[in-house]
Amino acid sequence: MTAQRRPLIAGNWKMNGLRATAMPLAGELATKMNNADDAFFDMLVCPPATLLEAVNDLALETNLAVGGQDCHMNTSGAHTGDISAEMLKDMGCAYVIVGHSERRADHAESDEVVKSKAEAALAAGLIAIVCVGETEAERDKGITIDVVAAQILGSLPEGATAANTVAAYEPVWAIGTGRTPTSDEVQEVHAMMRKTLAEKIGADEADKMRLLYGGSVKPSNAVELMGLADVDGALVGGASLSHTDFWAIAESCPK
Ligand code: PGA
Repeated sequence: MTAQRRPLIAGNWKMNGLRATAMPLAGELATKMNNADDAFFDMLVCPPATLLEAVNDLALETNLAVGGQDCHMNTSGAHTGDISAEMLKDMGCAYVIVGHSERRADHAESDEVVKSKAEAALAAGLIAIVCVGETEAERDKGITIDVVAAQILGSLPEGATAANTVAAYEPVWAIGTGRTPTSDEVQEVHAMMRKTLAEKIGADEADKMRLLYGGSVKPSNAVELMGLADVDGALVGGASLSHTDFWAIAESCPK
C-alpha cells in the first residue's frame, strides 16, 4: 500500500442473502461509512442480483458502493438469465466483479471471456474487478507466477487504467478454506502482477492500480495481509457476511 492508492475493501456475498438479513447488513455498513468522516478506505458490497436494487436504493447518497458479481459481455439480447453491465450501471452499481474463480469453474469462463466482460463493464462506465489466481495443483507444481501472469495478460480489458480497473489475486485453494498463502507468497504474486501490468499499461497506471488479495481474509489475518507493500485492499467472501468482521477487516488497512 502506498499513499497514492486508496484501499478498497470489497465484499462478495456470492449466492447468500435474503432481504431479512441482507438489508440490515448493508444498512450497518452504510451507516458506519457515513459516520466515518475520515474513512481512509473505499467500501464495496456485491450482493446477489436479487438484492441489487434494494441495496443500491439503501446505499444511495451514502459512501457505501455497490457492485454486481458478474455481467454479460453483450449490452443486451437473447441471453436468458444474464445481466448486462449497462443494466448494473442503470441500477446504480459502480463496480462489477469479473472472472471470479467460481465463475471460471462453474461456467467455464476463459480469460478471453473474462476480458470481454471487463470491456463491457468499462464501456458501461463501471469499474471492473478482474480476478485471477492459481489452483492448488498449479501452486504445487511451482507454476503460480506463470499462471497468474498469463491470466492477468489474458483477462485485462483493453483501455484498462487505474481508475476503471482493479485486479484481485485470489488463490483458488484459499477461497472459503481458511487457508492463505504466506505473506511472502502473497507479496511475491502482487509484485509480479504490478510488474506485468507496468509492461502492459505503463508504470504510472500500474503504480496507481489497486491490487486486492482475496481468499480466507478475516479480522485475524487482515492486518498482516493489508500491510503488504503491493496489497491495496481485500476481496472478502465469508467474512463479508458479518458487518463487524467486514468492518474490522477494513480498519486493518494501514492509514
Ligand atoms: P472467502 O472468499 O473470503 O470466503 O475465502 C473470497 C472470494 O471468493 O472472493
